[in-house]
Amino acid sequence: MRMSYLGKREVNITMKVGFIGGGLDSAIGSAHFAAINIDRKYSLDAGMFSIDESINFSSGEFYGVDKNRVYANISDFLSAEQNNLDAVLVLSPTPLHFEHINHIFDAGIPVISEKALCTNSKDAEVLARRATSENKFLSVTFTYTGYPMVREIKRMISDGILGDVLSVHVEMPQESFIRSSASGTKPQPQAWRQLDYEIPSVTLDLGSHVVNLLEFITGNQVARVSGIASHAGDVSALVDNVLAIGELHNGTPISLNWNKVSLGKRNGLACTIYGSNGSISWEQENPEYLRYGAKDGAIQIIDRSHAMVKVAAERRYQRFKVGHPAGYIEAFANLYHDIAEDLTSFKAGRKFDNPYTHSAADSADGLRVLEALHESAAKKEWIEIRR
Ligand SMILES: NC(=O)c1ccc[n+]([C@@H]2O[C@H](COP(=O)([O-])OP(=O)(O)OC[C@H]3O[C@@H](n4cnc5c(N)ncnc54)[C@H](O)[C@@H]3O)[C@@H](O)[C@H]2O)c1
Repeated sequence: MRMSYLGKREVNITMKVGFIGGGLDSAIGSAHFAAINIDRKYSLDAGMFSIDESINFSSGEFYGVDKNRVYANISDFLSAEQNNLDAVLVLSPTPLHFEHINHIFDAGIPVISEKALCTNSKDAEVLARRATSENKFLSVTFTYTGYPMVREIKRMISDGILGDVLSVHVEMPQESFIRSSASGTKPQPQAWRQLDYEIPSVTLDLGSHVVNLLEFITGNQVARVSGIASHAGDVSALVDNVLAIGELHNGTPISLNWNKVSLGKRNGLACTIYGSNGSISWEQENPEYLRYGAKDGAIQIIDRSHAMVKVAAERRYQRFKVGHPAGYIEAFANLYHDIAEDLTSFKAGRKFDNPYTHSAADSADGLRVLEALHESAAKKEWIEIRR
């Protein structure tokens, strides 16, 4: 009998989870639903999916959840399900995460939350402190770190394959605040995305990924930044265009940018790392390939089957063989696979130190970088990251 790509020992680990948000009226709910089901490690058993009553129930029906376990408010949901669930997934709008996560912590249930964890670092630090001092589980889903090739970049940097890292560049240009519909109507993002918070909405949405990806692949933290933030698009007067340069703690120069005003860019998350022995480039819209530039001038395209690859060649990433591209949902599933391992350790009272998952403390750190960057843009001066 052929073994599954998961291997024998890992199947039949099922975490019973509920959703807050993620209804059929949401952007991200169905991606989470698909991702948690790929590796059969989770079952979605309950939820408060939407603030719209009818969509709340139709979402439960669509997700195959018993209608008696679909709740009209969070208090009823948590008090009824507190002893039934291994985790609650927080998929509500970012400005609600702080309130929702505190509520779930109070109910004693582990939390898996979408990014950005909160709208400011102080709130994220409160959650991080609660997680540590009260032994609460909180893992944050920075999706893009689930791509096998992103994990391969992390490995190549830490193994010194690129030599000394000379500079790192991460960008996430999108077009959603400037592109019109086919009939000419202006963009209409969700109401909560049409407000700026302590950190601007564009930065919570995109900058959180950019900084997380940068620190994930380099294994280092941003020490100081100098930023520029401006408005150009068709959504009120929001900040929608952000650029920065900076340095990591080891002195490596970095450049970062994200925006929602780049026509022609659907989701242009990309990174390039220039090293003394080689360079690597990766683009989210073509996620199964790395472009490698060697010291002798050779340029190679690297995929899961290339001889240089170690992490992306692991069995767990071969849901189907190379040449059959995996994508965003599978990246999410890879992250959920790791979170399930952490959750298993947590429930058994074991410590875990997973290089692929993101704690509340990691998220608070990213938010401090983003706050410093916007402070720098306002003051037009370099800002050191508070740690
Ligand atoms: N990782 C990624 O790539 C990615 C992509 C998109 C969104 N996100 C994150 O996912 C989260 C949700 O984003 P979205 O685009 O799906 O938002 P959305 O506005 O499209 O959907 C929000 C959902 O939450 C529900 N909701 C609203 N208020 C609620 C409340 N008080 N209680 C319970 N449910 C409530 C809504 O009915 C809806 O189902 C955000 O934190 C966002 O940053 C992450």
